[in-house]
Amino acid sequence: MEYRFPEGFVWGSATASYQVEGAVGEDGRGQSIWDTFSHTPGKVLNGDTGDIACDHYHRWQDDIELMKSLNLNAYRFSIAWPRIVPDGDGEINQAGLDWYSDLVDGLIAASIEPYPTLYHWDLPQAMQDKGGWRSRSTVDAFERYAEAVISKLGDRVTNWWTINEPWVISVNGHESGEHAPGHADPIEALDVSHHVMLAHGRVVNLLRRDPRNRVGIVLDQTVYHPRSQHPADLAAAAYEDAKRIRWYLDPLTGRGYPREVIDTIGWGEAVVLPGDLETIAEPIDCIGVNFYCRQIAEATELSDEVRRGPIVEMHGTPTEMGWEVSPEALYEVLDRLRSEYGFESMFVTENGASYTVPPVDGEIHDENRRHYIELHLEQVARAIADGIPVDGYFVWSLIDNFEWAHGYSQRFGIVHVDFDDQTRLVKDSGTWFATVAAANGFVA
Ligand code: GCO
Repeated sequence: MEYRFPEGFVWGSATASYQVEGAVGEDGRGQSIWDTFSHTPGKVLNGDTGDIACDHYHRWQDDIELMKSLNLNAYRFSIAWPRIVPDGDGEINQAGLDWYSDLVDGLIAASIEPYPTLYHWDLPQAMQDKGGWRSRSTVDAFERYAEAVISKLGDRVTNWWTINEPWVISVNGHESGEHAPGHADPIEALDVSHHVMLAHGRVVNLLRRDPRNRVGIVLDQTVYHPRSQHPADLAAAAYEDAKRIRWYLDPLTGRGYPREVIDTIGWGEAVVLPGDLETIAEPIDCIGVNFYCRQIAEATELSDEVRRGPIVEMHGTPTEMGWEVSPEALYEVLDRLRSEYGFESMFVTENGASYTVPPVDGEIHDENRRHYIELHLEQVARAIADGIPVDGYFVWSLIDNFEWAHGYSQRFGIVHVDFDDQTRLVKDSGTWFATVAAANGFVA
């Protein structure tokens, strides 16, 4: 079967600042909540930190060469707020702006389109000390930081992502506490989600000053399949969907927050001020989709006897993150974004899999990851054939990197990193992906 992609389809890879840069104390960078969190014993597996990570801060030129050798025409990276405004809302750090400016120049020289994300979780610690995303002052500070970045890079960058995965910021950071800043308060998590969405809307407005800009937000997407057709499982799936998916898509498209979540959690909505929902619903040009797997939702009190009928189980062998390989669910996500929400341009901004395959004689035969990517690209091609407007695909990730609370134990790269000496080695999945990007299609 031959899969072809439309002319001009974007083939990229994605990374995030704290996961790859390292150089945490250099050129005036301030502390972020992830520095604090990763240095707090017990928070990250094996006590790993992003202090050095992939040393991308020093090796960015080589990494651009790597992308070029992989035939990629786009790079999604994130900008570290604490490099630009070390204490969050004070002085602007020119050296930080210069570093990203050089990166952008290097990318353009290599014919790789930059797709920066303005926030991928590294909040300046000084802002956290003032209340973090729970405080409205963080929204103001974010807008000011974004303005500094846009005025430095805006002559060359036209594709912008505001925020990466507000659900993860809100829930992992403030409800489950498995991410920085490690809080566990569901009401705080909703306050945070509102401010993060407001920050997004404010920056959309800023970017509108230049008509060339294309702006979007990156959401982690999934579908919740009910474990059975029992009404309690159906209700569980609907609630999970409202909390994780509609909580963001509904206000983005002018529908406000899902009432059932407000009521269930008992959110007072005190942080929602007049005009906020209009700001959040500021039209965007495209939506970024981070997709890894579907979810199976079930009502905890039901036994399988009570359920009767067919029961949905995870199929196949999961990836090392424990995530199911469920590519058809990516199609469902993309289809819904068009049919239910009317998006006219979408990018898969992250998709990929964690598998550890050690090098043997200078080669890495990661057929599992190659196959995972292929299965998902088939679904993207199917979506496009059905008229769903998908304009690009960014594999997560270019290089193995710091996987948040999992530290370096999970490897998502299409390029292997030896964390002892920082050497890069293209995996079989990377070699294959390069041929797909060059041919703008593949045969499976
Ligand atoms: C996310 C983040 C990435 C992760 C990746 C793999 O989606 O959680 O954007 O930073 O590393 O998704 O978990």
